[in-house]
Amino acid sequence: MSKPTQQDPQPPSTDTGAGSVLIVEDSYATAKIISKILAGEGYRTFLAGNGREALDVVEAEDPELVIADWMMPEMTGVELCRRIKDDPRRESIYVIILTSLAGRIEETLGETVRADDYMVKPFNKSEIVARVGSGMRVARLQRRLRTSLSELEHKQQELLVAEKMAAIGVLIAGIAHEINNPLAIVSNAHQLLERDFGKVLELLSYIEKLELPETIRSEVARHKHVCNFSFLQEDVADSLKYGFKGIDRISAIIKRLQIFQNSDFLEFEVRPVDAALEAALATLPPELLERSTLDKACNARQQVRCNLEQLTVVLVNLLTNACEAVKRTGGKIGLFTRDEPGTVVIEVTDNGYGMPEQVRQRVFDPFYTTKKVGSGLGLGLTTAYYLLKIHGAAVSIVSAPGRGTTVTMRFPAAD
Ligand SMILES: Nc1ncnc2c1ncn2[C@@H]1O[C@H](COP(=O)(O)OP(=O)(O)O)[C@@H](O)[C@H]1O
Ligand SMILES: [Mg+2]
Repeated sequence: MSKPTQQDPQPPSTDTGAGSVLIVEDSYATAKIISKILAGEGYRTFLAGNGREALDVVEAEDPELVIADWMMPEMTGVELCRRIKDDPRRESIYVIILTSLAGRIEETLGETVRADDYMVKPFNKSEIVARVGSGMRVARLQRRLRTSLSELEHKQQELLVAEKMAAIGVLIAGIAHEINNPLAIVSNAHQLLERDFGKVLELLSYIEKLELPETIRSEVARHKHVCNFSFLQEDVADSLKYGFKGIDRISAIIKRLQIFQNSDFLEFEVRPVDAALEAALATLPPELLERSTLDKACNARQQVRCNLEQLTVVLVNLLTNACEAVKRTGGKIGLFTRDEPGTVVIEVTDNGYGMPEQVRQRVFDPFYTTKKVGSGLGLGLTTAYYLLKIHGAAVSIVSAPGRGTTVTMRFPAAD
């Protein structure tokens, strides 16, 4: 084709217009005729002189329909069609192959070429208008189907997570309740043991202070030696200490799990989100913020229906994670709010260590943590997710290793 490929000058149309068509022809005259016919029907047309140029236009303009001549220099229309159909982003483009040989028709629509339709040259105006019209309808239906499918998949994914979290919530509430009673028994028994062992020691030291005959005195000393009393004394004290530590950790876990138990009784009020932001920042241990600079911009004017205490818990959990992510190297954490129509957005960001995709996918799972044993409970985001759901808020996380993390929460604005 003698002219460079470009959009043929016509009034632009939108997606709601007749549609966009790429004409790939090495004969400029033929391309121009087709373009003129289609432009007369309201189509937006692009021209390309060969397959390679056509792929550039496909990439840049994403036409809904392609008319490609079979025989062209550099890349045939058949090869072009195969490349288009092999690209999952472009497979819904409707491809019509132009051929001069009626005998190639079956081949055109067969496995190897995968064109959607064909036209045998020479063709007349009404034929091309009819073929492009029906092709465009199919292409648009396919596009709509693809969009609906991906929306459906997204919703299904959300639903799966929501169902999983609801089931987990019930399970956790049950476990927390069941563990609480035996934990109280163990805790009381430990306190009694500590007290009683102290009394045994007191009794022993009282006996030792008595003026006893030397034989009894040495017999007591011998027994103390035989049972390795000084080791025993230390060992019991250590065992009690570790026992208490364990009890405290279980209590801390149960306390955090109780959020799942009490959510039915939460009271909600209409508040600006800033109140929760301030409360969260005041609650955060100051040493956590030591290695980070806080960037804060509260631009939300709409209010949300919330339980301030629980919303504060959510923000504390997210801010804690953000601070921990920048702790080693120092960095920035951000707390931002803004209005969107009918929605209040809160964002917690950090430029810390970030997380790979396989971690990001699991962060809401209960007890999932990548922190060293004893430092992370793996419940911060599980709790946050659960509480956000109670608020009717959606949460999404974008993260990249070494770059940082952004947690975005979208709350329905209160009327
Ligand atoms: N801001 C963040 N940056 C990097 N990783 C994060 C961030 N927030 C959460 N994570 C990852 O998600 C995991 C789970 O977080 P969380 O539920 O709060 O539990 P925990 O903080 O106790 O580990 C963390 O162990 C960490 O791997
Ligand atoms: Mg955490």
